[in-house]
Amino acid sequence: MNRPFGYVQTSIGHKVIVALSGLLLAAFVVFHMLGNLQVFQGAAALNGYAAVLRDMPLLLWTARLGLLGLVGMHLVIGVRLAQRNRRARPEGYAARTYRRASFASRTMAASGMLLILFIIFHILHLTVGVVDHTFVEGVDGRGQRDVFGKVVHAFQNPLYVTIYLAAQAVLGLHLSHALSSSFQTLGLEHPLLDRLFRGTGPVVAGFVVVGNIVIILAIASGVVRA
Ligand code: HEM
Repeated sequence: MNRPFGYVQTSIGHKVIVALSGLLLAAFVVFHMLGNLQVFQGAAALNGYAAVLRDMPLLLWTARLGLLGLVGMHLVIGVRLAQRNRRARPEGYAARTYRRASFASRTMAASGMLLILFIIFHILHLTVGVVDHTFVEGVDGRGQRDVFGKVVHAFQNPLYVTIYLAAQAVLGLHLSHALSSSFQTLGLEHPLLDRLFRGTGPVVAGFVVVGNIVIILAIASGVVRA
């Protein structure tokens, strides 16, 4: 392969890019959920955490642009890979035909598209604040942006509870297959590592989804309130 970036143009190159960008996005989702669990420690903790992130604008914008780049790369290369696979000979690789594709693997493109739509909605809702005009973001007793109040207000509304719970189902489906197949792509299917990583996708996906659902239901049920 003499052309610069020639490897990137191959199907394997595409798979590696989708796998690496997907793992970094999955890491974000795990840390985001862990950060949001501070809702259980009350307004001061969650607002303080949000303030720390906002007080480092260079880091915040580097992370935001990095995330945007990762999502874009993951989407564009992922779609190209799916198109290539569809155009490839229908019988596929002889050695692979014994494996029946799971529901999650067959619906990766659809679940990925739904996740992108959710992320756009979520940013407009909780970061930009243009979805729900019944809440006007203010400051808490310490003069910090009241992110806690915003999240609590959101999940007191059954409409947002339903949308966010549905998003968790899609996230779980996408993430469980994505993580397992990323490890496979990156060559971690060595017999020993295979045993270690085989269940990692569903476990990590389950951890994130359960954490997010606990936050949503704790607020919806009034266990956490403003
Ligand atoms: C119960 C679930 C979730 C809660 C409570 C939550 C909460 C929040 C909040 C409060 C913000 C705005 C932070 C601020 O204004 O300072 C935010 C931003 C964001 N969330 Fe979530 N989130 C949840 C799930 C998710 C999921 C599943 C994803 C990705 C698939 C996600 C991706 C993002 C992104 C990309 C941002 C923009 C970050 C930024 O402003 O720089 N969130 N989230």
